[in-house]
Amino acid sequence: MYRSNTCGELRISDVGKTVTLAGWVQRSRKLGGMTFIDLRDRYGITQLVVEADAPAELVETATGLGREFVIQVKGEVVERSSKNSRIPTGDIEIRVETINILNKSLTPPFTIEDQSDGGEDIRAQYRYLDLRRGPLKRALELRHRLAHEIRNYLDSKGFLEIETPYLIKSTPEGARDFVVPSRMNPGQFYALPQSPQTFKQLLMVAGYDRYFQIVRCFRDEDLRADRQPEFTQIDCEMSFVEQEDVLNTFEGMMRTLFKNVLNVDIPNPMPRMSWYDAMDNYGSDKPDVRFGMTIHEITTLAQGHGFGVFDSVPYVGAIAVPGAAAYTRKQTDELTEWVKRPQVGAKGLVYIKLNEDGSIKSSVDKFFSEEDLKAIATATEAKTGDLVLVLCGQKRKTQTQLGVLRLEMGQRLGLRDPKVFAPLWIVDFPLLEWSEEDGRFYAMHHPFTAPKPEHLDWFYSNKKEDLERVCANAYDFVLNGNELGGGSIRIHEAAMQERMFEVLGISKEEAEYKFGFIINAFKFGAPPHGGLAFGFDRTCALFGGQETIRDYIAFPKNNQGRDVMIDAPSKIDDVQMEELCLASTVKENA
Ligand code: AMO
Repeated sequence: MYRSNTCGELRISDVGKTVTLAGWVQRSRKLGGMTFIDLRDRYGITQLVVEADAPAELVETATGLGREFVIQVKGEVVERSSKNSRIPTGDIEIRVETINILNKSLTPPFTIEDQSDGGEDIRAQYRYLDLRRGPLKRALELRHRLAHEIRNYLDSKGFLEIETPYLIKSTPEGARDFVVPSRMNPGQFYALPQSPQTFKQLLMVAGYDRYFQIVRCFRDEDLRADRQPEFTQIDCEMSFVEQEDVLNTFEGMMRTLFKNVLNVDIPNPMPRMSWYDAMDNYGSDKPDVRFGMTIHEITTLAQGHGFGVFDSVPYVGAIAVPGAAAYTRKQTDELTEWVKRPQVGAKGLVYIKLNEDGSIKSSVDKFFSEEDLKAIATATEAKTGDLVLVLCGQKRKTQTQLGVLRLEMGQRLGLRDPKVFAPLWIVDFPLLEWSEEDGRFYAMHHPFTAPKPEHLDWFYSNKKEDLERVCANAYDFVLNGNELGGGSIRIHEAAMQERMFEVLGISKEEAEYKFGFIINAFKFGAPPHGGLAFGFDRTCALFGGQETIRDYIAFPKNNQGRDVMIDAPSKIDDVQMEELCLASTVKENA
């Protein structure tokens, strides 16, 4: 037996026991002839003490211990004279009788402490050392706990966990596919699934009416804090359901997770907002509703005053920033530069200050009387002391810019507390999105999403403006400005699926080649069905109060999609290339 107890376990009630512990040397220090060692394992830290009068050999061994040595110690649990209330084992220490060095360690390249001195790159390279640190350990524990609760909940609702293949044909979720060459089928490739979308629908055709899977998905897309090339979904699908059934089931799951994992009560029922309201009022399809500062259209109030910038655009909108009237000229100039950054893309910023003394000052005083400005302030629900910020241009584009500005101001004012949870459903998404650039429609969610039954006439119309009006029973679960999950009621009839591909400009031949299997399956008694998928990494991060998912994944990729620890991706040898019928066009040292 390597150990009788863990390093997080012993308390004052254990005093007098002889125990054996095993773990890593966090640090050791000498004090008045005694050696103190902090011994760490997954469960905590226990202080060891080697007395000054211990046998010389023991003192020598203790003195020679380096950071991260793996040791086994035997000794008696004694009460500490100077207690440490910051750790659960802080009342006791182990008076060491024997030390057995199980393995030595090189000096780690950074400190294995909650606040490490190592930069991101070095910690990524030595991820297995980084994973010894408390914050990462707690993140993975939270991930495990959530997965466990999810399985319990879905099992209790009759869902079956069924695995689907990784070597498949492309599933269109809007990103590029990762592909895998097939040795046995020269010149042919598998695609790794962007999601199990088509397979879960085929499981519905097969009669498995409640499916779930905590499953890896692969998307070759630009990475951000909340995106990884391989990530995990809580993927679910149900048959014989309407939107209401799906929302209720998964609202229940989220409520259970919040209660059981964080002891947080979320609103019952959960708020819902239409996609149109989200765009109009928050400039985002994933609004952060922890704070107000909503967007107000002021086009009619802003136009007709001789200010050409406002008069020449279809939309003028504003937000009222609470308590920011005291912003100095320097601060408003800085904000103006901020909204002009490419990430926001506004051309300029107009402001109106509702000063505490009752006066109104704006950057467009030349064109607007105090009365005009007051009317605008009223329309934006601004109060004395507030700063009204105005942007203008194309409607959706300007709303999006105002949405980004709103989030920034919310951040600056400390209104985005990660310990506050404001979940909601966004519903009634448009089915299609027109791309000016490509001159075609794209599916807003994915091509398997059904149009609302009451919009079928528009769906079968060939007019662009009709198709633009079609809504879907599609829904997103949004938490604190993040899209945590999304899904829809699906098409389950072959003819409608064919029409969808037609609307998306996919030829009959191409649809048959790429998706013949699912169109065909729909001809064999496909039940009405719908479902959704949550981003599991994002769920873990937000439950942990973070927006970066990397710490919630044991072995994540960096921003270039690389695993710097194992140095992947990497070249494969010529023999492998030949077997796979591959030739590289990359020039050496290019
Ligand atoms: P969607 O594409 O919206 O839907 O994905 C579902 C959820 O997965 C998470 N997510 C990601 N998380 C980390 N890194 C990524 N690169 C990444 N991409 C997506 C998000 C997102 O809300 N098949 C449909 C679901 C359905 O219709 O049932 C789908 O995949 O949190």
